Amino acid sequence: MTSFRTELASPQPGRGSLPARAHLRSDAPRQSLDGTWRVRALPGGDWSEVRVPGHLPLQGHGSPIYANVQFPFPVDPPHPPDDNPVHEHRREFEADPAVLAHPSALRFEGVDGAATVWLNDVELGTVRGSRLTHEFDTTDVLRAGVNVLVVRLAQWSAHSYLEDQDMWWMPGIFRSVTLLARPSGGLRDVFVHTTYDHRDGSGTLRVEAGSDAVVTVSVPSLGRDDLGAGQTHHFRSVRPWTAETPSLYDVRVHTPAEAVTLRIGFRSVHVDDATLMLNGRPLLLRGVNRHEHHPLHGRTVDLDTARAELLLMKEHNINAVRTSHYPPQADFLDLTDELGLYVMVENDLETHGFELNDWRGNPSDDPQWHDAYLDRMRRTVERDKNHASVLFWSLGNEAGTGVNLDAIAEWTRQRDPERLVHYEGDRRSLHVDVYSRMYATTGEVERIGAFTEPEDDHRRELPFLLCEYAHAMGNGPGGLSEYQELFHRYPRLAGGFIWEWVEHALHGGTTDDGRTIQLYGGDFGETVHDGSFVIDGLVHADRTPGPGLADVARVFAPVGLTIDAERSTLTIVNRYHSLDLSHLDAGFPLPDVPAGATATIPLKVPSTTPSTISLRDRADGREVAWTQHVPPRPPATIVPSAVPSPDLRLGPAVFDPRTGMPVRLGDLDLHDVAVSLWRAPTENDRGIGWEERDLPSMADRWSAARLADLRTRLIDVTADGAALVVRTRSGPPVIDAGVDAIWRWTSDGAALALDLTIEPYGQWPCEWARAGVDLRLDRPTTRVTWAGWGPGPQYPDTGQGARYGTFTAGRDEFAVRTVRPQEHGARRIDDATVDLGGIGVRVRGVDVPLTVRPWSRGVIAMTGHDHELPIATSTWISLDAATSGVGTASCGQGVLPAYRLQPSAQRLRVILQQH
Ligand code: GAL
Repeated sequence: MTSFRTELASPQPGRGSLPARAHLRSDAPRQSLDGTWRVRALPGGDWSEVRVPGHLPLQGHGSPIYANVQFPFPVDPPHPPDDNPVHEHRREFEADPAVLAHPSALRFEGVDGAATVWLNDVELGTVRGSRLTHEFDTTDVLRAGVNVLVVRLAQWSAHSYLEDQDMWWMPGIFRSVTLLARPSGGLRDVFVHTTYDHRDGSGTLRVEAGSDAVVTVSVPSLGRDDLGAGQTHHFRSVRPWTAETPSLYDVRVHTPAEAVTLRIGFRSVHVDDATLMLNGRPLLLRGVNRHEHHPLHGRTVDLDTARAELLLMKEHNINAVRTSHYPPQADFLDLTDELGLYVMVENDLETHGFELNDWRGNPSDDPQWHDAYLDRMRRTVERDKNHASVLFWSLGNEAGTGVNLDAIAEWTRQRDPERLVHYEGDRRSLHVDVYSRMYATTGEVERIGAFTEPEDDHRRELPFLLCEYAHAMGNGPGGLSEYQELFHRYPRLAGGFIWEWVEHALHGGTTDDGRTIQLYGGDFGETVHDGSFVIDGLVHADRTPGPGLADVARVFAPVGLTIDAERSTLTIVNRYHSLDLSHLDAGFPLPDVPAGATATIPLKVPSTTPSTISLRDRADGREVAWTQHVPPRPPATIVPSAVPSPDLRLGPAVFDPRTGMPVRLGDLDLHDVAVSLWRAPTENDRGIGWEERDLPSMADRWSAARLADLRTRLIDVTADGAALVVRTRSGPPVIDAGVDAIWRWTSDGAALALDLTIEPYGQWPCEWARAGVDLRLDRPTTRVTWAGWGPGPQYPDTGQGARYGTFTAGRDEFAVRTVRPQEHGARRIDDATVDLGGIGVRVRGVDVPLTVRPWSRGVIAMTGHDHELPIATSTWISLDAATSGVGTASCGQGVLPAYRLQPSAQRLRVILQQH
């Protein structure tokens, strides 16, 4: 045990493994060792069963820890803490005779933690690099009959300092373990090089193969089955690989002893004039960052799930994935080749926790870690080097700067000059092929696109991408369109990758009343943790889409459509990389618009009804792009006929003389009708926008101003003809600012119309979250039906995916539930009915933001998890004159100025009616 422990503090890479090589599909025999293993804690634990692949803490051995930047142990490199869970895994198996007939190797595709491996009491070596493949020679150790494989795994080691990615710390053998026959005279490695020449449609193929035998390459669909390895072969005409046209060619590389099959693509990626180019044409990345995550199985994600994820991405016009922040399971890249997504494969490397210590001792700049860095990068590149979809190698994430990063950049460039090197942390862009940043504000991105930022000559030659932006945490991301417009405007901007694809909530069982419990940092008793910051994806942990995904689909649409009703035209911009529009069906003949071109055609749109143009893929009917022209609607009105009675009745309504507020609408009791300026802070409201780092978060500003605690004074109630006019003044305690409201109520006998004006007074210390009216009904709602914008919610800087129509949503869908409760779900309505079970309330207006939910804002703001929200007994409704945007200040820029709600005069016109 001593030497095992001592070695954990070594900054050296693992030892004893075979040279890193490509993950190949070979016809050599193999034997899976996945399945049930035995495990015990050391020292002295009892044996129990465990599933491999899997994480120990998700199977009853220890607990997950979620920490983002901060290391959950003292920063004392290269030493791990003494408090270090160690588990021994054991698997007994009968060797398959087909494997035994050859030399053999044992392959681990992912062992989270630091491991030493023994087979039949012979130590094979150590594994360092949790998301990296390690193979060990087992030729002389594997025996007929029963073999005993032992893997001793420590959670913490020197290498933990290199694996500080923003995710759960969860040790375990979480990817497959396989025994591979390695036939003599077989293929040690294969490296396929292809190019595509867009000028004449030709391609080249060169296969480097490591073997002691003669290697033959065949490409049946190009009519060649006799190509030699090592030479460059020209093909006069090939179909290029792009994410839009993922044309793959089956290639067989073989020796008399072994054959491997690959699916290769012809394509060339390079930089030209500060523009990212694929096959000679500019390439725009509409990407997402993808972690491997499953709510039950952690980073063990089966391929069917991965395929479904990629299909969901493609369905939403996403064309690129950054494998943040480690190489994904190897087979994932077969899927991106086949389905068509551009990939940035990232090395398994992050040392972000050193930033909290001013980067003192950062391994990136300490030569004793050089070999470990090189080993990680090498394993990354070697494993995945044959994939057409991989355009970039990323050196890692947030690892500061230093000689070891410089060294692995150089190694990568030499080993694979045909792909581009990426590393966001290289702010001088000395060792990279693209200038990359994360969360840069739209203002800065625009300056970079326009070359108006001070930059040196070298960096000016590089295209720019955002390896992370639009932090999709909770209600949001706000402001996606503004980034996209810049990407479209400036050729230097190659797009980027939204942070992030999937939320990392862990399943915590179900409540007694059957609600799913989703857990985040701190829920496992961690003392160092980052709370809900791990819940920041476009799709939930179970892959059900959050509302942001529909917005992404619209913003990422590869065809831009703009209706000009006045001129009666439709402008079509083809933003595909290389496709024309012939695969799209518009319901009318589309003009010929080649990739990159724009056309304007005549289009008459009705002046009173909405019209929608929708482009669908002829192959699968999927809607690729759409636009709508929605003519302005006149305000909803009634003809006032009722007159206010002296006891404050008006049509169906009864008013409380003490407050001037309606307390009854037909058979419905109305409660707590009041002006409101607050919302239950979103995750973005709780963050500090990068453009105003010295200010408190919006949520804190609201809280300092006590925005949630408006107190109202009735000024007077008067009759003005058929109108009941109520004047109130509302303001928070402590300060001398507030709002004056004039509530003008009229009725036609059945409905109650409100024309409300809100006017700020005093010096407001903060912007508002919203300006509108809250009310409560003492019955729970079941569903909402509306004409207006939907099906998803809309805030001023979100909801690009919402269109005008009629919709119905169940209560939970309308309220939009998030793992951590927060403001969400506003729909802009013209006519909505909130169903309260046999009775309802109807609301009419024009574009009125409506929120409906079974909890008060106060309860939402105080509740940490969705499953902790109380059972619905009432319904809270808000009708707004205006709302603030949501931005992405949880990590990135806040609400853009145009979408902020400054204290200002507001007017709300709505008609309420019992339904
Ligand atoms: C970035 C980091 C990501 C993630 C994100 C915030 O700085 O690279 O891993 O932490 O911020 O969610």
